[in-house]
Amino acid sequence: MTDLDQMKTDLLASIGDADLVRLEAVRVAALGKSGSVTGLLKTLGGMSPEQRQVEGPRIQGLREAVAGAIAARRAMLERADLDRRLASETLDMTLPVDAAPMGTIHPVSQVMDELAEIFADLGFAVATGPEIEDDWHNFTALNIPETHPARAMHDTFYLKEPRAAEGGQNPPPDGDGFADAAGRAKHMVLRTHTSPVQIRAMQAAGGDKPIRIIAPGRTYRSDSDATHTPMFHQVEGLVIDKGITLGHLKWTLETFLKAFFERDDVVLRLRPSYFPFTEPSAEVDVGFSIVNGKRVIGGAEGWMEVLGSGMVHPEVMIAGGYDPDEWQGFAFGCGIDRLAMLKYGMDDLRAFFDGDVRWLKHYGFAALDVPTLSGGVGA
Ligand code: PHE
Repeated sequence: MTDLDQMKTDLLASIGDADLVRLEAVRVAALGKSGSVTGLLKTLGGMSPEQRQVEGPRIQGLREAVAGAIAARRAMLERADLDRRLASETLDMTLPVDAAPMGTIHPVSQVMDELAEIFADLGFAVATGPEIEDDWHNFTALNIPETHPARAMHDTFYLKEPRAAEGGQNPPPDGDGFADAAGRAKHMVLRTHTSPVQIRAMQAAGGDKPIRIIAPGRTYRSDSDATHTPMFHQVEGLVIDKGITLGHLKWTLETFLKAFFERDDVVLRLRPSYFPFTEPSAEVDVGFSIVNGKRVIGGAEGWMEVLGSGMVHPEVMIAGGYDPDEWQGFAFGCGIDRLAMLKYGMDDLRAFFDGDVRWLKHYGFAALDVPTLSGGVGA
């Protein structure tokens, strides 16, 4: 029956060049409920047994050939499709990381990284202390007794309930007036400055080793306007060694501020001042010039206060476990937010903590841009 052979030839030909959509149409037209091959199979019922014996295998053979060709063609097309997708969707793991990540580094974090880099170069380690601090570390050990007016000056946030002192590590001595009857609960404050880390660093060093640390972190005072926020950031610096003088303090601050502002013409002015925990004490101003109506660090047309400093008070040495007849030290404390404002030109401190993404996009730093001395710390 040439009819069947012709049909087979035609069907196999249209299967051979069909795409996936066309292939399904061919399948329905041939093998579907009212398809041509299905129609032929239906004619078998009306045949005589002899005729069926001849035609049955031929029609079944046609059905199998067509079904097989369709399955083979479909598998081929699907594999080709997958190969094409695999080729176009490759990920080259050796390409550099996306150069434009979404997030930015907050200027405060950036300045903290810059400080760590600058002071690491001078041999300082980074130390930390708790933000919920006991009264003794925050005040008493820093030569600020309970009745001292400096306590009121700090606008301290006090925690309502005394807390169990942190087990073991640097417990304040008994009899400081702030322990409970058993000597175990302490009045807690949100630390008003990073200076308690001086005490913790001295206690941790054990009273017989030199110390060189900076301690950046959050500090808290009940104060709020364009230049004050209840939470702000400070960096503390502490050096303890034998034969330390005011000259070491001045050189260190000068070196630090020149590296930080990335200018050699940074001029410092040390003004005599008072802090209970340093003697003598000095407030440090940096000189600025006016360029196009804006204050720029460098020169000496005007002065801006940037930090407090001094030689560590003998009482503080003793509280930290050092013998002041043998050891000397200097310390300084500096507002990080203010440093960031001066260097990067923001004028409202409150925007630092508003979490406005537009502000962060404008003032933030690229996430992978780690400050290095060789590349310029503010790069
Ligand atoms: N702790 C002082 C303050 O917050 C700053 C300071 C630190 C001054 C260390 C002298 C020495 O104002």
